[in-house]
Amino acid sequence: MSRLDSFIRRLTAQRDILNHVAADLDLPGEGALMEIGLGNGRTFNHLRELFPNRRIVAFDRAMGAHASSVPVQEDLVIGEISQTAPAFIGKEAAFVHADIGTGYPEKDAVTLTWLPDLAAGMLAKGGIAVSGLPLDHPMLKPLPVPASVPTDRYFLYRKI
Ligand SMILES: C[S@@+](CC[C@H](N)C(=O)[O-])C[C@H]1O[C@@H](n2cnc3c(N)ncnc32)[C@H](O)[C@@H]1O
Repeated sequence: MSRLDSFIRRLTAQRDILNHVAADLDLPGEGALMEIGLGNGRTFNHLRELFPNRRIVAFDRAMGAHASSVPVQEDLVIGEISQTAPAFIGKEAAFVHADIGTGYPEKDAVTLTWLPDLAAGMLAKGGIAVSGLPLDHPMLKPLPVPASVPTDRYFLYRKI
C-alpha cells in the first residue's frame, strides 16, 4: 500500500471513530478532552465541532496549528508530552485522543513505554480513549470500532 493510501486510511479511520464517539458513546461528567499531538490542528478543529461545549486541552512540542485551529493559550501545552502531560493525570478527562504515531516502529515503541499509562491516568472512569497506536493497559478496555475502520488501523477504549 502506498504511503498516500495509508495516510488516507489513517485519517478516515480517525474521523470515523471520532464521529462514532460523538454520536453513539456517552462521555462521563463535564471533563475535558485531551488532544495529544495538536499538529496542524485539523483533528482539534473537528473535535471542537463535535464537542462545542467541552474544554479541549492540546499538547505538542511546538505550535504548528493553522490559525483557525489554535487553542486558547491556557489550553495549549507546549513541550515534550511525556514531560508536560503527566500534570494532567488525575484531572478526570472525559476523552483522550492521541495521534502521535510516527510510522517508525522503534520510535513508536518508546512512545508506548509511557502513552498507555498517561491516557489511562488522565481519564475519568468511563472515559474514552482513541489512539493511532494501541494502548495496552489493564484499565483500558478495547471497544469495537466502526465497520469502516480496518483492523488495527485506529484504536478505541473505555476506561474501566
Ligand atoms: C501526526 S501529528 C498530529 C496531527 C493532528 N491530528 C492534526 O490534525 O493535525 C503528531 C503531532 O504530535 C507531535 N508529537 C509527537 N510526539 C510528541 C511528543 N513526544 N511530544 C510532543 N509532541 C509530540 C508532533 O510534533 C506532531 O505535531
